[in-house]
Amino acid sequence: MPALSGLQVEQLLQAAQTAAVNAYAPFSKFYVGAAILTQGGEIFTGCNVENSSFGLTNCAERTAIFSAVAAGALSTERELLAVAVVNREGAVCSPCGACRQVIFEFGPEAIVVYRAHSGEMAQTKAKDLLPEGFRLR
Ligand code: THU
Repeated sequence: MPALSGLQVEQLLQAAQTAAVNAYAPFSKFYVGAAILTQGGEIFTGCNVENSSFGLTNCAERTAIFSAVAAGALSTERELLAVAVVNREGAVCSPCGACRQVIFEFGPEAIVVYRAHSGEMAQTKAKDLLPEGFRLR
């Protein structure tokens, strides 16, 4: 898979930042936005959606991916090329373990863009964020 261009990275980060505006996070107050790029060249966005029953919270990345699947734009045959995730205030935010597995399902080679623990922006392949990701086949 070709690397993402600088312009694509900027577009995805901007879309993720815009999506974070709609985050519903009254409990954690940690507002997250995500944007994904599909093989078809489409961008889908998502935000985290929390719930009074905390365990029902959906992360921004999964919101974006599930939206793309629901739109018919993403399947294991129509792959995920890239995912950008941001915290609205620019805090460190790498995809949680559950999101890594969901990203892996649709794009083990996908480039994931996020602010790493070092504080720097990072680009890491999904399969490197989740070695030996689970596959039911
Ligand atoms: N969150 C995300 O949306 N994506 C991640 O990868 C990490 C965590 C959300 C879930 C919850 O609403 C808030 O951040 C704090 O955990």
